[in-house]
Amino acid sequence: MSTPKSPQVRVLIVDDEECQRTLLANMTAALGFAVSTASDGEDALAQHAALPADVILTDLMMPRMDGFDLLRTLESRGDRTPTIVLTGVGGIEQGISVVHDLKAFWFLEKPVQAGILRALLERAVAQKRLIDETDLLNRQLSHRGVLGEIVGGSAVMRQLYSLISQVAPTSASVFITGESGTGKELVARAVHRLSPRAGNAFIAINCAAMPETLIESELFGHEKGAFTGAVERHAGCFEQAHDGTVLLDEIADMPIGTQTKLLRLLEEGKVRRLGGKGELPVNVRVIAATNWPPDRALKENRLREDLFYRLNVFHIALPPLRERKEDIPAICDAILSNLNKKHGCHVSGLHPEVLESFQNASWPGNVRQLRNVLERAVIVAVQGTILRKHLPADKTFPNGSTAAVTPRLPDEESIRIQVGPPMSEVEQSYIDLVLKHTNNNKTRAAEILGLSLRTLQNRVREMSERDAKRQATN
Ligand SMILES: Nc1ncnc2c1ncn2[C@@H]1O[C@H](COP(=O)(O)OP(=O)(O)OP(=O)(O)O)[C@@H](O)[C@H]1O
Ligand SMILES: [Mg+2]
Repeated sequence: MSTPKSPQVRVLIVDDEECQRTLLANMTAALGFAVSTASDGEDALAQHAALPADVILTDLMMPRMDGFDLLRTLESRGDRTPTIVLTGVGGIEQGISVVHDLKAFWFLEKPVQAGILRALLERAVAQKRLIDETDLLNRQLSHRGVLGEIVGGSAVMRQLYSLISQVAPTSASVFITGESGTGKELVARAVHRLSPRAGNAFIAINCAAMPETLIESELFGHEKGAFTGAVERHAGCFEQAHDGTVLLDEIADMPIGTQTKLLRLLEEGKVRRLGGKGELPVNVRVIAATNWPPDRALKENRLREDLFYRLNVFHIALPPLRERKEDIPAICDAILSNLNKKHGCHVSGLHPEVLESFQNASWPGNVRQLRNVLERAVIVAVQGTILRKHLPADKTFPNGSTAAVTPRLPDEESIRIQVGPPMSEVEQSYIDLVLKHTNNNKTRAAEILGLSLRTLQNRVREMSERDAKRQATN
């Protein structure tokens, strides 16, 4: 592999033993990195503050401030610089627990071998680049206010911001899935706001619970007298959103006949009003959203397959709130400040016990449900801290108990296992189930399964090879 690294990549080596420090510094410098050294955690923090390192390589046992405290301090400061910890011979277990508990990037056993050091530093540098890119993106997005009300700094939300910023500048159709109340409309608005169409109209239309004629008139418009009650000519949302964006919300609830007409419109780029003869060219970016997992919507013929493929150019799957509990405090703060303004109240925050019960709740209605619970609590509390007594005593979240509520899963989100099949089959069924749950989003599936993305990809490949062999022999 090519070494010399760009001199901008700075590695800070922290070790109290001078000979070990010099040895590592020489090895790292020989790999082409810019090196600085520190003799303990405090010294490292001071140097890192003066000239931030890209990667920190630190010993664990040191006087004054040891490696554990160094990592804890960095974490408490929100500093995500990748850290590699040095462990003694046979220190794998210790290394793994430091990686797990203190979020170190990885560990390195002494005596350090140059090849392993190089591979690790390269991976850590790649990680640092990703962190920097995401931070920059988040700053750009929040600076421009395009994220609107979307709050959350969890890994899945950061990934979401990155998807939004990738797709927004294009004119690709976006298909947003996620449970009710997860923020699908917020995401659609953010995509529009960050797109070159931001200065033009964004029109959201809810395709559910509307009779066919009414929804078609909303979508395509109508001429005067096109149907009973059509007393005036009406421009549909595609016409109104010319050069802008249309959000087709609850797309899997759109009547199938209307889906056929919609597909024609998208393919031809022209709209014909109900009862009209001529066609008008329209240039609209389409975003579709649904609570239905696409495979189910297709299987149950709620969604035309050809329309789905036309709309699903770029898929964004929103995670349910129970899978990003770390976002709950920030979301509560943002919602509380809105609600204080709305109701003229002065609620300062949540009692820790309430926050804990929120973090243990399953939130089947996601952020919308959380918002509703908070709205009631703000009205009841008026000021001060929200206490347990301000919460509704219903069963939708564990009021009065901090026990976690297991999310209720529909049947298609669970598997029954009987004693009998070999482990490989059980594993295959579970992987299939999780992939289905994540709409085939392998990154999210890997997170749920606790596997690396690469391992999941390998398993999926092995599974399909096994299936192919099985089919060939049948
Ligand atoms: N990440 C978030 N941060 C702050 N507020 C959020 C977030 N996600 C959703 N909300 C709030 O939750 C509510 C529901 O959001 P939204 O209408 O976008 O959800 P949805 O997925 O479209 O729901 P549905 O499927 O029921 O239409 C809104 O009040 C929205 O402002
Ligand atoms: Mg919605």
